[in-house]
Amino acid sequence: MLIGVPKEIVSGENRVALVPDVAAKLIKKGFEIVVEKNAGSKAGFPDEKYIQAGAKIIADPIQLYSASDIVLKVQRPTEHPDLKKHELEMMKRGTLLISFLYSLHYPELAKKMSVLGIDAISMDAIPRTTLAQKMDALSSQANIAGYKSVILAANYLGKIFPLMMTAAGTISPAKIVIMGAGVAGLQALGTARRLGAVVEVSDVRPAVKEEVLSLGGKFIEVPTDTAMQDTGGYAKGQSEEFLKKQKEIIFKHVTEADIVITTALVPGKKAPILLTEEMVKMMRPGSVVLDMATEFGGNCQLSEKGKTVVKHNVTIIGETNLPSLVPYHASEMYAKNLFSLIEHSSKEGKFIFNMDDEIIRGAAIVKDGEVVHQKTKELIK
Ligand code: NAI
Repeated sequence: MLIGVPKEIVSGENRVALVPDVAAKLIKKGFEIVVEKNAGSKAGFPDEKYIQAGAKIIADPIQLYSASDIVLKVQRPTEHPDLKKHELEMMKRGTLLISFLYSLHYPELAKKMSVLGIDAISMDAIPRTTLAQKMDALSSQANIAGYKSVILAANYLGKIFPLMMTAAGTISPAKIVIMGAGVAGLQALGTARRLGAVVEVSDVRPAVKEEVLSLGGKFIEVPTDTAMQDTGGYAKGQSEEFLKKQKEIIFKHVTEADIVITTALVPGKKAPILLTEEMVKMMRPGSVVLDMATEFGGNCQLSEKGKTVVKHNVTIIGETNLPSLVPYHASEMYAKNLFSLIEHSSKEGKFIFNMDDEIIRGAAIVKDGEVVHQKTKELIK
């Protein structure tokens, strides 16, 4: 089968779905690979590296799309800005698209694919199970995002992180509050600790307390009302009453913080508001909020999707694509996730779309002209 890797066209996207080393491994497995010219250049992977790996370079995306049996992408397909044609419309019927699709947020895209006869597997729908860990692209990218969130926030802060005792006096360590101790939050905690900050973390799942403590963080106890974790290890939706109680407890910690990083997410739902305007008003002048959830509504009432703004003397960063700011490693990890998925489901250079397989069934969005992802199907009007 021929795997096509187009250049990402969403503005600000520096990643590429496949890196040369992984291309070589897929070729060894019997696949042919074509990569669009300069697809990896922004991530630090020039065309020559793909050629050395055994892939072909194609300059024309229309030619690439029409030749591919499988298309590997990072961002969900959209209209091509130069060609004025939707990426999906350049694919042939029966193509398998593997990408981040966020179909619970964009169900109309799943419908479009079903009409066009394009099969789709979404990397954000890979079940969080032990067997699927190697394919868990949400985690690999959230890890990178968690790291970068701290570096980016540190850049906007007029303070240093570590305790410093010098002849000129003593500087106390920066205080950071992280909300949501999932993959991104825990990586942010580790990064901030390595830079010398004092870090407090809150989460609705009491199960994460131990992990927070083991990474050197302090856990902010918030009483939970019901079992806050589902069987997949994700947080469940929370009641208004709970969120109100949580805000009261968090308030004091936030007003004393130099940086607040919010990473709270309940899959498929709008992000819960954890930082209100009132709370931001009470924060220290010059402090920084980094809201990782702006793509899906934001955890801070004042954050703006994709923008960095200053409100009430607080810098609020709403960067939606942190992994793209670390494109080399983010692409490398994503490509490895893709490889694990393809390796798991293929034989002699042929991908087998087997709905009896638990991982494929969880991540399949469209197959043979039908939306097969139940929750997505329910959202289609
Ligand atoms: P995750 O599911 O591993 O972690 C989310 C955590 O938030 C869970 O531990 C959950 O219990 C917690 N949570 C849910 N509601 C909460 C509440 N009310 N208070 C405190 N904690 C709460 O998710 P992951 O992979 O760590 O991603 C976190 C967020 O970062 C998501 O919103 C995701 O979309 C976003 N993200 C943003 C990126 C960016 O570039 N801005 C890149 C990668 C992820």
